[in-house]
Amino acid sequence: MIDVLPRESASPWLDLIETTPSLVFDPAICRQKWNALTKALPGVTLYYAVKSNPYSDLLQTIAAEGGCFDVASSAEIKMLEHRGIRPSRMIHTHPIKTEAEIERAVASGVITFVVDNVDELWKLIPYRHVIRVMLRLSFIAPDAPIDLSRKFGAPIQDALSILDVAYDTGIRIDGLCFHVGSQAATANTHADALVTCLELCKKVNEKGLPEIARIDIGGGFPAHYLGEAVDFASFCAPIREVLTNVPDHVQILAEPGRAISAPSMALVCKVIGRAKRRDGWWFYLDDGVYGAQSGRIFDGMHYRMSVFTSSKERSACVFAGPTCDSIDELGRYPEFPVLNMNDIVILHEMGAYTLASATQFNGIAPPAVVTRALPGQIQEYRRTF
Ligand SMILES: Cc1ncc(COP(=O)(O)O)c(C=O)c1O
Repeated sequence: MIDVLPRESASPWLDLIETTPSLVFDPAICRQKWNALTKALPGVTLYYAVKSNPYSDLLQTIAAEGGCFDVASSAEIKMLEHRGIRPSRMIHTHPIKTEAEIERAVASGVITFVVDNVDELWKLIPYRHVIRVMLRLSFIAPDAPIDLSRKFGAPIQDALSILDVAYDTGIRIDGLCFHVGSQAATANTHADALVTCLELCKKVNEKGLPEIARIDIGGGFPAHYLGEAVDFASFCAPIREVLTNVPDHVQILAEPGRAISAPSMALVCKVIGRAKRRDGWWFYLDDGVYGAQSGRIFDGMHYRMSVFTSSKERSACVFAGPTCDSIDELGRYPEFPVLNMNDIVILHEMGAYTLASATQFNGIAPPAVVTRALPGQIQEYRRTF
């Protein structure tokens, strides 16, 4: 989806930033998404997945709403601690960790960890008296384009034997968790997986193993990108139906990343070069797949775009990023305005897995980040997290 707008109407965006490319963080959108998802999942404790976007003002916005945090490393723990967020509000959900990483996380005061195999259990033995562990299971959503249950997650049929080994080694596994895949089209797999986990809880009780007290339904809640705005209330309806069958002593957690971070940022870029080639006009932007747009390659994403130009001429065109690599291509269009140098291109819903994975390839810096000031506040510019 592309909006073509007059060049001068880019001014309100350009007034927000000091340079292009810049990601503009909107705390009001972040807050609204967080609260909408909280409302759609009553009784569920949300842990924001820091990996999707660790920008400081975003973390602070979620902290101010009373949110908790899902971390994948002690570096993420430190980022949160620097913002005054206590480790008691964090869970460490990476299923595969080095021993040094576990030691650092425990030393920081994080006590919840995740395993999905017995070899990972051995690493946790030294800390067994102070930690709680969740067992990650594999459930693949057929409607989620980004799979997260192939690389991680024990098959359900292995769950009881892993729980048995944990019991024998004195490790307290009192939780189950899963991630059905990112950007799921429906919550049907979340709901089915939760039902399966509740059945497993009964088998755990029958076997006399320690009771399961927590089930973490992971991430996978979608951002809208090219489609309709996501209505979290209807998306989460299948999960809510199962929540009514959850026993009182079982706490439910979720780890949303993309659904919160993607809509919270827009990327403002500029045309820095153009050339007429065999296959049409090529427009080179100052951000590409080595910057904030790696999702085009990693996740097959397409982003909603607004172009600000006074051009009336149309032609086939190719968008490309600023690096020398030919893979740094951003999209082809059979008919598009022939953009001019310095025309502005804005990509929307650009907060998830964008800056978090941006590189310095070719010595080109990732986009700057600015926070959109609330009314009455002064606009601030930031170049890093
Ligand atoms: C363990 C874990 N939790 C949560 C998330 C966030 O997922 P999403 O952005 O789909 O909500 C991820 C994404 O990779 C993850 O690996």
